[in-house]
Amino acid sequence: MTKQPIGVMGAGWVGLVTAASFADLGHSVVVRDVDPARIEELESGALSIYEPGLDELIRRNRSRLRFTLDAAEVFAATGVVFVCVGTPPTYSGDADLSAVWRLVTELPAGVDDTILVMKSTVPVGTGEAVRAKLDARGLENIVYASNPEFLAEGTALTDFLNPSRIVVGSFAGAGAADVRALYDTLNAPVLETDVPTAEMIKYASNAFLATKISFINEIANVCEDTHADVTVVAEGMGLDPRIGPSFLRAGVGYGGSCFPKDVAALKQVAGNSGYHFQLLNAAIEVNELQKRRLLSKLKWHLGPLRDRTVTLLGVAFKPNTNDIRQAASLVIAARLLAEGARVRAWDPVALQAAGPVLGPEVELCEDLLGSLRGADAAVVVTEWDELSALDLDEARAVMRRPLLIDGRNLFDPDTVRASGFVYEGIGRPSADVDSVSSALAVPERLRFSARAAAQRLRGAEVAGEPNPAGA
Ligand SMILES: NC(=O)c1ccc[n+]([C@@H]2O[C@H](COP(=O)([O-])OP(=O)(O)OC[C@H]3O[C@@H](n4cnc5c(N)ncnc54)[C@H](O)[C@@H]3O)[C@@H](O)[C@H]2O)c1
Repeated sequence: MTKQPIGVMGAGWVGLVTAASFADLGHSVVVRDVDPARIEELESGALSIYEPGLDELIRRNRSRLRFTLDAAEVFAATGVVFVCVGTPPTYSGDADLSAVWRLVTELPAGVDDTILVMKSTVPVGTGEAVRAKLDARGLENIVYASNPEFLAEGTALTDFLNPSRIVVGSFAGAGAADVRALYDTLNAPVLETDVPTAEMIKYASNAFLATKISFINEIANVCEDTHADVTVVAEGMGLDPRIGPSFLRAGVGYGGSCFPKDVAALKQVAGNSGYHFQLLNAAIEVNELQKRRLLSKLKWHLGPLRDRTVTLLGVAFKPNTNDIRQAASLVIAARLLAEGARVRAWDPVALQAAGPVLGPEVELCEDLLGSLRGADAAVVVTEWDELSALDLDEARAVMRRPLLIDGRNLFDPDTVRASGFVYEGIGRPSADVDSVSSALAVPERLRFSARAAAQRLRGAEVAGEPNPAGA
C-alpha cells in the first residue's frame, strides 16, 4: 500500500530525524528549509549535523526524500506537514516564534485538506493563535494539530522510532486520527488531548527533567561539604521506582538547545499570566551557578588562573552531538578567559561548530593527548566515550600539572588518583588541598588565598548573593 506523502518544514535536528524516519517507514517526504546552504548541503549528500545514524538513514532513503527551499512545493505534494522550525529564546526569555509566523504567512492561498502538525516546541496558547491566523487568512480548511517531539540529541533516531509516548493535541478531535495513524507501526502509547494540554506536556516534561538535574546538582554541592558521594547517593535514590535513575547524574549543569530555552519559556508563560514559578527560578539559578563552581575548584588548586593553561575536554553540550547551543563549555571558556587563563578545547566532533562561538582566543585541539600537553589542568565538560578510553598515565606524563576536574563524574576517582592526578569530581569527596600541594607545585601562598576565596564563594552561593570573586 502506498504510504501518505509527508511534508517537513525545517531541516534541523528534529526536521531531518522526522523526515528520514518517516522515509524509512515508507513515506515519500518533502523537506523544506529557508537556509539555502542547508538545502544545498543535503542535496549534495552532505550533513553538517552530527547525529549517530542520521547520515546513513538519509542516504538509505534518499530516493524517498526531496529537499527544497519552496514552501509551495511541500503543500502541493503532501497533505500532512510537520512543522519543525526552530523556536529559539528571545532576550526576554520568551520563545521566538518568528519562524512559525513566517510559515503561516507563507502558506499558499487556497491550500486545502492539509493537516499542519506542530512538532516544534511552542508556548501554550500558540496553537490557538495559529488557528486564529489561519482562519483570518481564510484557511479554515487547514487542520491544526500539536504533536510535540520528545527525542534527545545523540539518541534521536532511536527516540523517534521507539517513543515513550506520542502526544496528539487537536481542536475538537480534528485530524487527531490521521496524525495518530502515521505512528501506527511504532507501538507506543498515544495520548490524545486538546492543543494547549499537548503544548504544556512538552514544556512540563522538559522543565521537570531540568529541575531533576538541578536538584541532584544541589545534592552534589551539599555532598561536597558533608563528605558524601553523590554518585552513590543518586544510585540509592534511583532504585526507588517513584524516583527512577535517569537525570540523576550530577555535573556542570544542563545545556543544549532545549532545556535552557524551554525552562525559560515556561517561566515566561507563567510570568506573563502573573504567576511566579519559584521552583523553575531556582532550577535555572542552580544551573547557572553550577557551571561557575568549576572555576572555584580550579582556583582552589591553582590559585589565580592568570596564565594558567586549562584544557576543556568536550565542547558539545552532550556526547554524540556537535550541537553547542547553550553548552556549559561556552560559559566556562568565557569565564576562564576573563580570569586571564589560556584556554584550549578538545572535542571529537564539535570543534568546527564551536570555533566561531568560542572565538580566536581559545585554541582548538583535534588531538586529545596534544590538547593536554603542558596544561595546568584538564576539565571534563562532555562525557565522550573517547575520554573514558584516555590513557591516564600518558595524560599525566604530558601535563605540566596533574589536575583533573571532572565536571561529569566520568572517571573513577581512585583510578585517576592512582595515576598521579589530583582529582576533583562533582559531589564526590574532595582532594585534601594540603596533601596534594606537592603534586601540583603551586605556592602555598596562592593556594590558601584561593582556598579562602573558594570558601567565601561557597558562602555567597548558599546565601544567593552575587559572586564576589567573579568566578
Ligand atoms: N533539538 C532537539 O533535541 C529537540 C528535541 C525536541 C524538540 N525540539 C524542538 O523542535 C524545534 C526544532 O528544533 P531543532 O533543534 O531541530 O532546530 P534547528 O535550529 O536545528 O532547525 C530548525 C530549522 O528550521 C529552519 N527554518 C526556520 N524557519 C523556517 C521556515 N519558515 N520554513 C522552513 N524551515 C525553517 C532553520 O533554517 C533550521 O534549519 C524547536 O522548537 C525545538 O525546541 C528540539
